[in-house]
Amino acid sequence: MVALVEPTALTLSLTDEHLALQDMVRKFAQKEIAPIATEFDESGDFPLDTIRKMGAMGLMGIEVPESYGGAGMDTLAYVLTMIEVAKADASHSTIVSVNNSLYCHAILKFGTEAQKQQFLVPVASGEKIGAYSLTEPMSGSDAGTMQSRAVLNDAGTHYIINGRKSWVTSGPVADLVVLFTMTEPEKKHKGVSAFLIDARQPGFIRGKKEPKLGIRASATSEIVYENYACPVENMLGKPGDGFKIAMAVLDAGRIGIASQALGIAEAAYAASVQYARERQAFGEAIGSFQMIQQKIADMKTRIEASRQLIYNAVLAKERSKVTGDRYTLEASMAKLFASETAAYVTDEAVQIHGGMGYSKELPVERYYRDARITRIYEGTSEIQRMVIARQELGLR
Ligand code: CAA
Repeated sequence: MVALVEPTALTLSLTDEHLALQDMVRKFAQKEIAPIATEFDESGDFPLDTIRKMGAMGLMGIEVPESYGGAGMDTLAYVLTMIEVAKADASHSTIVSVNNSLYCHAILKFGTEAQKQQFLVPVASGEKIGAYSLTEPMSGSDAGTMQSRAVLNDAGTHYIINGRKSWVTSGPVADLVVLFTMTEPEKKHKGVSAFLIDARQPGFIRGKKEPKLGIRASATSEIVYENYACPVENMLGKPGDGFKIAMAVLDAGRIGIASQALGIAEAAYAASVQYARERQAFGEAIGSFQMIQQKIADMKTRIEASRQLIYNAVLAKERSKVTGDRYTLEASMAKLFASETAAYVTDEAVQIHGGMGYSKELPVERYYRDARITRIYEGTSEIQRMVIARQELGLR
């Protein structure tokens, strides 16, 4: 299946392929994911069966060409998928997002042919699971200050990697990882390099799984590297390219998180409209009260504004395939607004539901918990504002 946005287009239109994909993912997500979301949220187990099924459907490498095991579609197809999956369960969409726009995108954009064959094909096809590892215990928002190290051995054949990476999405189950670590610490961010890591090799140690507030079925852990020997040919890009690769890849990732946030907000909004129509108070449906109507109007308006900012970022990313221009500004604006909207909408959804919004009997409290991470990971809202302002002021 191929769906392409015209890179010079001013507005997005959904092709028949996009609509077919959206319909297929919506049906799958509502039939197979939504019914298990609460159970997996409570257990915190990784939903391997449904992730494997999504792999078979081409959803783990949506923008990867078919020749490398992917679905050969475009960013709009990825966004539509993320929204539908997130509507059913944010945890699943986190796994889909990291696999697609952080792991696969990094190798597709910066990998050699040999690296694509070895590291991209098995993950884009859904056979294996990919992760992206930038954050460390003492290096989160300030991503250029990492403590982990990769040192070239005397023979010049391997980099020996030591250090501790934290908050690795899919860390407990990942087969392959894009890792960022320091090769020349004195050069600060210019001394960061990127490596392709095989989790089966000695020295790759999975740390403790994080107990989290939300997206509980998306497993997150530390990964410790103890004298992990990475062949020199598994460096992604050149020595010192790592920071720019990490940032460029996060531009793509942030469109995915914006779409996830939109999906969560849409689910919370739909539940709220239904509840406002049905719930009776003072002899009428609560939707007849102006204070509830104001909430519904503001929720809907912010949701649609989020969608437009996401589509704007999709267009900028498609254009960049032709021009090579960055789409940092558009991706950060979409991520900032959509994640803040998800927080606002899910909070209002709990309010509209009253006591039932606070109960685990309805999914609204899960939407509220799941939305919270979208303002934090892949760059906090504060970092997005910093990125946007720096771009506008010409500071970077
Ligand atoms: N694309 C390409 N290059 C970029 C870039 C981008 N988007 N952003 C910055 N760069 C380049 C700059 O041009 C600059 O290049 P020169 O050295 O040639 O001048 C270089 O990178 C350094 O840029 P800055 O000076 O702006 O770097 P900084 O240290 O001030 O940091 C930052 C900038 C925006 C704050 C960045 O550190 C950042 O985004 N931090 C947040 C990190 C983040 O999002 N972490 C989440 C990790 S993933 C995750 O959440 C877990 C998961 O599994 C989902």
